[in-house]
Amino acid sequence: MKNSKKILNVDNVISGYGEIQILHGVSIEVYEKEIVTIIGPNGCGKSTLMKTIFGLLKPTSGAIEFIIDNKMTEIQSYDTENLIKIGLSYVPQSDNVFPSLSIRENLEMGSFIKEEGMEESINSMYELFPVLHEKRNDPASQLSGGQRQMLAFARAMMLKPKLIILDEPSAGLAPNLVASVFDTIKKIHKSGVSILMVEQNAKAALEISNRGYVLATGENKATDTGKNLLKNKEIASLYLGGK
Ligand SMILES: Nc1ncnc2c1ncn2[C@@H]1O[C@H](COP(=O)(O)OP(=O)(O)OP(=O)(O)O)[C@@H](O)[C@H]1O
Ligand SMILES: [Mg+2]
Repeated sequence: MKNSKKILNVDNVISGYGEIQILHGVSIEVYEKEIVTIIGPNGCGKSTLMKTIFGLLKPTSGAIEFIIDNKMTEIQSYDTENLIKIGLSYVPQSDNVFPSLSIRENLEMGSFIKEEGMEESINSMYELFPVLHEKRNDPASQLSGGQRQMLAFARAMMLKPKLIILDEPSAGLAPNLVASVFDTIKKIHKSGVSILMVEQNAKAALEISNRGYVLATGENKATDTGKNLLKNKEIASLYLGGK
């Protein structure tokens, strides 16, 4: 939605692990109220890109900007806590809930840097996801796969982020639960947050996305609206299972 305000700008980022360069100059943008999906083959650097945006890896070159007080500001030197404070939130690909803590305690953890307003946020998450309220005192380990993802999203929403980064939200779920995860994503999007996600279920993800990017071997390969990427025959045969 290029007529709205840009909130994230990743410009020519080079990043990786120590000496190993994985991203060779990747650029992406997210605008206010958008859902943006990144697709690409296994190992192409999607999670590396998400970790770099969330400050868990430092880019060796390039810039990452985020909107702070209405101004795009370079954030690549910010640590995780500061990124959370300015309105970024991240749900990693795996291990994204604390299994031995109760659902309520997991939600409290989402607010650990700021206790003010915590009760109100917990209640609004219970309203959005009634099953979390029903099971609030149970350990998270007792949730189903789909419910666990719900809890992970809810925890990431506790501080009312501007942008939530989801790495493979439907990974590891039974096929019949995948649709419910996308429904959950639509629900949190409707509550006003922008979403940047990585997804293996590329078709389902692009269907609910305003725009998408194709990454391959650590480089941008294509970008377009979700609809156009779905219609693109070359993209479909290479990255969408050929159908
Ligand atoms: N901690 C690490 N140390 C060194 N190399 C790593 C590390 N984590 C990932 N890599 C390598 O970086 C490359 C990109 O990995 P990344 O996890 O970003 O891929 P991905 O696109 O998210 O893949 P997938 O679809 O399987 O989740 C891979 O070759 C991987 O082996
Ligand atoms: Mg990954």
